Amino acid sequence: MKTLLRKLAEGKTKIVYASSVEDEVLLKFKDDVTALDGKKHDILPGKGVINAGVSAKIFSLLRRRGIPTHFIGMVDSSTMRVKKLNMIPVEVVCRNIAAGHLVKNYPFFKKGEKLKTPLIEFYLKNDLFHDPLLSEEHLKVFGLMSKKEINEIKKITLKVNKVLSSFMQKLGLQLVDFKLEFGRDKNGKLRVGDELNIDCMRLWDLKTGKSMDKDVYREGADLDKVLQTYVQTYKLIVGKEPK
Ligand code: TMP
Ligand code: ASP
Repeated sequence: MKTLLRKLAEGKTKIVYASSVEDEVLLKFKDDVTALDGKKHDILPGKGVINAGVSAKIFSLLRRRGIPTHFIGMVDSSTMRVKKLNMIPVEVVCRNIAAGHLVKNYPFFKKGEKLKTPLIEFYLKNDLFHDPLLSEEHLKVFGLMSKKEINEIKKITLKVNKVLSSFMQKLGLQLVDFKLEFGRDKNGKLRVGDELNIDCMRLWDLKTGKSMDKDVYREGADLDKVLQTYVQTYKLIVGKEPK
């Protein structure tokens, strides 16, 4: 690809390339699927295109609703053009329904119970330390976010939750929980960065309760079944076949 220049960084599921345009980078989505802090790893052919397409659709939706994101557009079906951000190494999780770590680590809710209000949590993005939970005091003392940024991030996260929950509901899906990552642009403005797709949210079929996201992989389904789920959810969200 002509516009792909220099590799700046590579993560488990994406590669960051330099762009010829100042203040922009290119995010290439890989076909890798991982879980358990990267200990479980497989290749799902076509997953890069699926995750890039779903991310683009959701970022465009957020942009239309006035939420600041890094998304600019697509270069090809697996590569997004995004604003360069100085990423904050924190995963911001928002939960509507109890699942995952909330039921594994605490005795208060059973899987599937609806929370009275959305719960926002912060985790350090660090596989080696297994992404420990961070309190707001930790965020300030570790110099990760200021009090003002914490409040702004919570406000943006709740808005994303509203927009995404109602979008998914119309498609027959329940937004159980999701993870956002934030960064600061060259003016210091906070924007939603990274990706927004089937890897970083739980989506349950409203009728059957069936998982339509990466939980299918986490729970050990065979890869054909995992890919089939990704394709199905892509078709619901994007409205066409992935290619
Ligand atoms: P959890 O219940 O495992 O903490 O996950 C909450 C949500 O965050 C779920 O939608 C999956 C997403 N998530 C990520 O995207 N990356 C991660 O590393 C983890 C732990 C969760
Ligand atoms: N821990 C993350 C997950 O299970 C991602 C990973 O480990 O690769 O969602």
